[in-house]
Amino acid sequence: MSYARIIGSGAYLPSRVVSNDELAAELATRQIETSDSWIVERTGIKQRHIAAPEEKTSLLATRAARAALDDAGVAADEIDLIIVATSTPDFVFPSTACLVQAGLGIKGGAAFDVQAVCSGFVYALATADAFIQAKRARVALVIGAEVFSSILDWNDRGTCVLFGDGAGAVVLKASDEPGIIGARLNADGSQMNILCAAGNVAHGKVVGDPFLRMDGQAVFKLAVTALTRSARDVCIEAGVALTDIDWLVPHQANVRILNFLSKRLGIPDEKVIITLDKHANTSAASVPLALDVARRDGRIKPGHLVLMQGVGGGFTWGSILARM
Ligand SMILES: CC(C)(COP(=O)(O)OP(=O)(O)OC[C@H]1O[C@@H](n2cnc3c(N)ncnc32)[C@H](O)[C@@H]1OP(=O)(O)O)[C@@H](O)C(=O)NCCC(=O)NCCS
Repeated sequence: MSYARIIGSGAYLPSRVVSNDELAAELATRQIETSDSWIVERTGIKQRHIAAPEEKTSLLATRAARAALDDAGVAADEIDLIIVATSTPDFVFPSTACLVQAGLGIKGGAAFDVQAVCSGFVYALATADAFIQAKRARVALVIGAEVFSSILDWNDRGTCVLFGDGAGAVVLKASDEPGIIGARLNADGSQMNILCAAGNVAHGKVVGDPFLRMDGQAVFKLAVTALTRSARDVCIEAGVALTDIDWLVPHQANVRILNFLSKRLGIPDEKVIITLDKHANTSAASVPLALDVARRDGRIKPGHLVLMQGVGGGFTWGSILARM
């Protein structure tokens, strides 16, 4: 049996950091009231990275990919599959994955984007895992990359304080040793309106709404329920107990969601990787960013069992169980 193993990870965050106080002061110039204490108390977010105008998603993704390749000790030309999870691609087409491939100076392998919003990285990882298990790829780059600041309505305090920009990447390689041992993906399109950016480019102009819109409380409730069930299901399928999990690396949306989730699953808070305070919600980038932080600071070690979870617009959600 061929498994897909994570053999390296990398990250890239734009250099500009915007604290809650800076953001509150900026919003105040437009008579929009918010505060560091409101944002921290309701979400756990303290700051976010914001991309410069020239820092498009493909640039962030390419930099994270290079860091992951360095970490894995893999040359770019060994990569035969690139999947980028993003909802903020540079272009309608070509895909961001093709731009990353060109940025790495390679050609020939498959490259495509996956669109599952904040579940995007988990969807992309499950897809790459399936390619590797089916022997359709040997070494894959799986990247989550976003410039969410470009689709935020900076006059809507209910959403603009929540998100940030960034990219995270992993290198997956075929191996006889496990590997990704479980993957579960779900969606409920009937909930499309609770989190959406319902705009498009057509006939030379933006048609519809170009900004992210959200019913925060509906998303909150659905996220907790969906992630709890998904965690239980993936563990049952893989034949492991929730108590076997060394680290939970969840999508970083709201620390209160994560507290509810860990309590329901009986996973101690010390086993939950949280980067929300520093990165805010970076959508598809949040899971690989958090994974990279915890691998590099030595918390996640070879042999550990890691549960990665995504949830977001669509509505989509999913879980991956990986032996590191
Ligand atoms: C968005 C979220 C933080 C709002 O928290 P909440 O406790 O549900 O707050 P509400 O939406 O009920 O709003 C409460 C009040 O705070 C206000 N408020 C909203 N954003 C605010 C802000 N940034 N600063 C200050 N006040 C704010 C609201 O206007 C409302 O005021 P009102 O009572 O006078 O009408 C929360 O619902 C959430 O995190 N949901 C999940 C969102 C998410 O994770 N999305 C991404 C998923 S991938």
